[in-house]
Amino acid sequence: MDEKHIQIIKDLGFDDISQETMTNDYWKKRGAESLALTTQDREVYGCLDHTCGHGTTIYDIEGTEYLDVTGGVAVRAFGLRYKPLLDFEASINDVVREFPGADFDGIPQTLLAEKLGKMAPSNQKRQVVFTTSGGRAVEGCMKSAMDLSGKQRFVGFRPAFHGRTGYAMALTASNSKHKSGYPQGVDVIRVFYPYCYRCPYGQNVEDCNVECVEALRYALQLEGNDIAATVMEPLCGEGGLIVPPAKAVKGMYEVTRDVGGFFISDEVQAGMGRTGKMFAIENHDVVPDYMSMGKALGAGYPMGASIGPAPMFSGPTRHSETFSAEPKMALLSLWILKHLEDGDFLKNNAEKGAYLLKRLEELKDKYEVVGDVRGLGLMVGVEFVKDKKSKEKAPKIRNRVVKNAVQKQKLWMLGSGLNTLRLTPSYVITNEEIDDVIDRLDKAISQSA
Ligand SMILES: Cc1ncc(COP(=O)(O)O)c(C=O)c1O
Repeated sequence: MDEKHIQIIKDLGFDDISQETMTNDYWKKRGAESLALTTQDREVYGCLDHTCGHGTTIYDIEGTEYLDVTGGVAVRAFGLRYKPLLDFEASINDVVREFPGADFDGIPQTLLAEKLGKMAPSNQKRQVVFTTSGGRAVEGCMKSAMDLSGKQRFVGFRPAFHGRTGYAMALTASNSKHKSGYPQGVDVIRVFYPYCYRCPYGQNVEDCNVECVEALRYALQLEGNDIAATVMEPLCGEGGLIVPPAKAVKGMYEVTRDVGGFFISDEVQAGMGRTGKMFAIENHDVVPDYMSMGKALGAGYPMGASIGPAPMFSGPTRHSETFSAEPKMALLSLWILKHLEDGDFLKNNAEKGAYLLKRLEELKDKYEVVGDVRGLGLMVGVEFVKDKKSKEKAPKIRNRVVKNAVQKQKLWMLGSGLNTLRLTPSYVITNEEIDDVIDRLDKAISQSA
């Protein structure tokens, strides 16, 4: 970090900060003492330098350069310091942004709601509620579905991740640490997520009768079909980067509609063009009733949206959030959506993702411990097993690969689920960088397996 930025921190009252304190160990120790939580392991990751970085390149506080394939856990659609976005942001710096909330009308939030409503795959009129997180975007959809249906139960999946607060947490099932000991806010009927590599019904996707869909029908018969909605990730992200077959998602949708429930597609991670479609559910030929948006929608700022059928609520003040689409954030989101529409990002994401998968297939052929590679667009997973025949999950190998990748190969990456790697790079990643990712990952696997 340069002297200018150190001085900025000093001027904020932190006289103890100097070049000597710019070490990972120093900041990890300070972070561990003062921050109640980080979700990632301090044994693996260093402390990020908030003053450097560009595109897919990030730095830790010691100046080590990393190739980032997390895209900020799918937040940074255009990577770091994307010039056109920075220019736009500079052009709106004088906008009044101290207008928190949905309490009064404002032009940017209205235009953003109109825009999202029009973009959403639908043949019906849409309304939008803005939030400051993905989890609350899911909850906005859930509250609307309860309000409109008069029902309070939901269908959720195992695995699934929808957030860590109240109703969203009740739907989440990806790691017991997220849930155990906390009361579950809402009644969830849970069925298996369509996970063809490990089909819980022992079927092959090519000739299966979507037994997973039949399992949902059966669950509703036995447990009661008075559901407000089924809530599904169009690709399961945090739970193990699983790509469901379209026929299964469509089946879940149809069974839900048969019993009069709404269908909520949680697009927080997979949406915003990442999979090559603006909304990931479009890959499955399903028109959902609701969509929850977050992450990349805010250009790095906390912004989420619940999109639903108009009118979303039975009356005013049924739902609200203090901070939601304040003017600057709403303008930035509008810019991002327009930029995605005007550019070739969706097509490129599909092509780059296909290239990434093709290169990962080579690693699958090379290593017995790489059981499966799968993905849509730039949302890709690599599942580790003890061997291909037994398919026994290999979480320790996965953890060693992540540690080696980050610390030795300088490839900033994340796991998901018990034994899978998650690659969600920014859309600006090039094919040359994808080759670089493969080289680094190849080394990490060979040194860890
Ligand atoms: C599919 C999905 N839904 C909801 C969330 C929760 O978003 P947030 O952490 O912004 O509340 C996430 C976060 O990873 C997610 O991947």
